[in-house]
Amino acid sequence: MCGIVGYIGQKSAQDIVLEGLHSLEYRGYDSAGMAGIMDGQMHVVKEAGKLTALEEALKKHPLDTNMAIGHTRWATHGRPERANAHPHQSADGKIALVHNGIIENYEELRDRYLQGETFTSNTDSEIVAHVIAHFYQGDLLEAVRRTLKEVRGSYALAIISADEPDTMVICRMNSPLVLGVGDKEMLVASGVPALLKYTRECIYLENGDLAKLTTSGYDIVDLDGNPCQREMVHIDWEDQSAEKEGYDHYMMKEIHEQPETFRRVMTGRLHEDAVTFKEFTLTDEQIQNWQHIDIVACGTAYHSGLVGKSILEETLQLPVNVEVASEFRYRNPRLDAHSLVILISQSGETADTLEALREAKQRGATTIAITNVVGSAISREADQVLYLWAGPEISVASTKAYTAMLIALYLLAFYLGDRAGRFNLADHKDLLEALAKLPDQAESLLTEAKKEEIRQHSQALIDADHLFYIGRGSDWAVAQEGALKIKEISYIHAEAYAAGELKHGTLALVTDGTPFVAIALQEKTFEKTLSNVNEVVARKGRVLCLLKEGHDKISDDLDKRIFIPDCLDMVAPILAAIPLQLLAYYTAEARGCDIDQPRNLAKSVTVE
Ligand code: F6R
Repeated sequence: MCGIVGYIGQKSAQDIVLEGLHSLEYRGYDSAGMAGIMDGQMHVVKEAGKLTALEEALKKHPLDTNMAIGHTRWATHGRPERANAHPHQSADGKIALVHNGIIENYEELRDRYLQGETFTSNTDSEIVAHVIAHFYQGDLLEAVRRTLKEVRGSYALAIISADEPDTMVICRMNSPLVLGVGDKEMLVASGVPALLKYTRECIYLENGDLAKLTTSGYDIVDLDGNPCQREMVHIDWEDQSAEKEGYDHYMMKEIHEQPETFRRVMTGRLHEDAVTFKEFTLTDEQIQNWQHIDIVACGTAYHSGLVGKSILEETLQLPVNVEVASEFRYRNPRLDAHSLVILISQSGETADTLEALREAKQRGATTIAITNVVGSAISREADQVLYLWAGPEISVASTKAYTAMLIALYLLAFYLGDRAGRFNLADHKDLLEALAKLPDQAESLLTEAKKEEIRQHSQALIDADHLFYIGRGSDWAVAQEGALKIKEISYIHAEAYAAGELKHGTLALVTDGTPFVAIALQEKTFEKTLSNVNEVVARKGRVLCLLKEGHDKISDDLDKRIFIPDCLDMVAPILAAIPLQLLAYYTAEARGCDIDQPRNLAKSVTVE
């Protein structure tokens, strides 16, 4: 959510910052801007719209400097227009900053320190620039520190002042910020990929850290001004995100990466008759001590938890509650040393999930994070971490991370159940075999012929205003993810219903041609779901059915169908995700939507 990049060194700051912003653009893309100091004056170039608009503006007004800060924005306070784009400046224009996060007490700060001042934007961030100027007495670090002592909220900030053209100040609180240390150059970014071309030596700033950067080095202090030592981390992973590799969109590239992602998440963990997690440091006693489990996540990650619930309940024989993080943390959850809380987050940065993690830890629960981003806040704070190893996910609509989360949850359920002595894996080799088959089965869903078949089905949806996804049990969880995928990228209003609930109200909405997608993959509920499909068809609704090969008990006159390979019911949700992702993709493509960067969204949501 919003991307920050800053550079101070010997090279052209504009080029480096722009390049970094490109690698972070998926985090927010409704406006972008950059600031640098030339001839002792602060220059700010910013534009509404995507980064290309900023690039055009910089061609007319280049920033010829060796120090610059840049930002790509996802609007929180203030509409997505030029005036609200970052960088924001102090009233005298001398101080400029870029900000990720939300300043909760910005009105209080404005009323206390900025009486009579005028503002050019509707943002909380501009207030911070003004307050820093209020405290400025020739020392930028000190002015920022004094300001932060007054600020409530979350922030990652990079700040420069025309009065100190060789200094950049950065700081963070509950919003990620990484310092990259190069040779006579320093970089800062809200995500590691923006730095990797220039340095692999990074420092993850901690909450409350402020750093003063110059070309010759950095000094980190806390909010009281005390010096802090932070560990330098060598980044040894590659940023594979740069190219679409011939696909029109990252989303399609990432859909295609799923067979490989499945292999990666299982490698070294899935064995013929066992599941291992060498990275865990859990004792048998700890595992046996748990009495209940909460799975906490947002959006697509939450949907993965809905699927994971039943398998965890079965293997650990414990009650499992699945909840969206923004609800969980505010309802005073009953947690103690007998609780396991599983946090699922692709980015590892989602603010609601991070806060739920902190709440869980504070109440004595054991926490396991399932995440994709190494070094992310959630991965660093959880007791145990299960990495998805899915590689960078750039498309805002999550695809490969979702299916990797499902596999991770299954592996975790088998592993914990086995260690708790409640689920003997040796007796369930068929389940392990079913997982092992998934990469090949996923490949069979990604052939050109299969994709074309799904594209054809999408043509029936492109003029829809409303769309319903139905299913029972884990098919309902799959339906919820299918509906989210299509609504976020095609902007069609889509709702998922438990198929059995339709007749309790929603059926009233069905008229001639109302489109439905029915997920009917679970053997034990197949007949019942079929009855619900018939209820829709009887009211002239149109139904596209997602079925397993060989389980086609639906007569030919019952509309359209897509098949996934025959598989155990347990793994069907993983395979089912792929055609539903493709259906959403082709529908959005036909409607001319911006698939990788849907309106109003951002990849990682670091505000609550
Ligand atoms: C939808 C999507 C979002 C995320 C949600 C949580 O395609 O990607 O719903 O799943 O914002 O993000 P993470 O997993 O990064 O915590």
